[in-house]
Amino acid sequence: MMIQNHASVEISDVTAFALSVAREAADLVMRILPEGMTSKDVRHKGPRDLVTRADHEAERLITARIRTRFPDHGILAEEGTAASGDVRWIIDPIDGTTNFAHGVPMFAVSIAHEERGTLRCGVVVVPPLREFFVAERGRGAFLIAGSEPPKRLATSGVAELSQALIATGLPGEPVRSAHVATIPAFMRDAQEVRIMGTAAAHLAYVAAGRLDAFWEPGLNAWDVAAGILLVEEAGGRVSTFTGQPMTPPGGDILATNGPLHTTLLERISRRT
Ligand code: IPD
Repeated sequence: MMIQNHASVEISDVTAFALSVAREAADLVMRILPEGMTSKDVRHKGPRDLVTRADHEAERLITARIRTRFPDHGILAEEGTAASGDVRWIIDPIDGTTNFAHGVPMFAVSIAHEERGTLRCGVVVVPPLREFFVAERGRGAFLIAGSEPPKRLATSGVAELSQALIATGLPGEPVRSAHVATIPAFMRDAQEVRIMGTAAAHLAYVAAGRLDAFWEPGLNAWDVAAGILLVEEAGGRVSTFTGQPMTPPGGDILATNGPLHTTLLERISRRT
């Protein structure tokens, strides 16, 4: 199928489905974004782990669409929806819930489709910016924004850390403190370090060549599944902190443009 309104990118029916569901979820969460914390029903899942009614509503919407269209597929979603199956959907209805709860317009909806352990398609939407990052295995990664034609994504060519804009995240304990201690060395040696509060958007930005690398320990499958495919299909590299392939998705992730991977792996493993 061709992406709707755009003749230049061919995507599978499954990817087109993921994109259309992501659009619906993006519209839903944007309607709730301006509301106050009480109306958003902000609750704590952990000391630094928030959830809102928008997370639940978006997850219900996405999983209802999946169950109608693909009743035998498995589901793994952040807010608890689960169904087993070796063909499954991995969903974060809002990645960056803390930003969303506070009204900061930087968060993502992340939907990935995996078949027997291989990621097949991934969609990361940054709803406030109306940017849709779409990847399909073997067909590349694209950015769809407004009425512009889809733009093929490619990671950057930056090879020197001193020229690199890199990003990290702040996971919960028990890994948080040790990770935070490693960040100042990168602040010293990289061009800049960003912490935008959404792993999915960080990965989409690596795919788009806006960021040169992203690393964070202790992530969940739903934070990274779609973003991993985006980075790989855009020509970048994704591994664990020991350089192993990230299968299944989740854990300690290093995603780079490619040229920076070895340098960053070495530095992360020696903790600076
Ligand atoms: C969080 C975000 C954040 C990262 C945390 C994640 P959530 O996901 O991706 O950037 O630092 O580790 O838990 O909870 O907002 O979906």
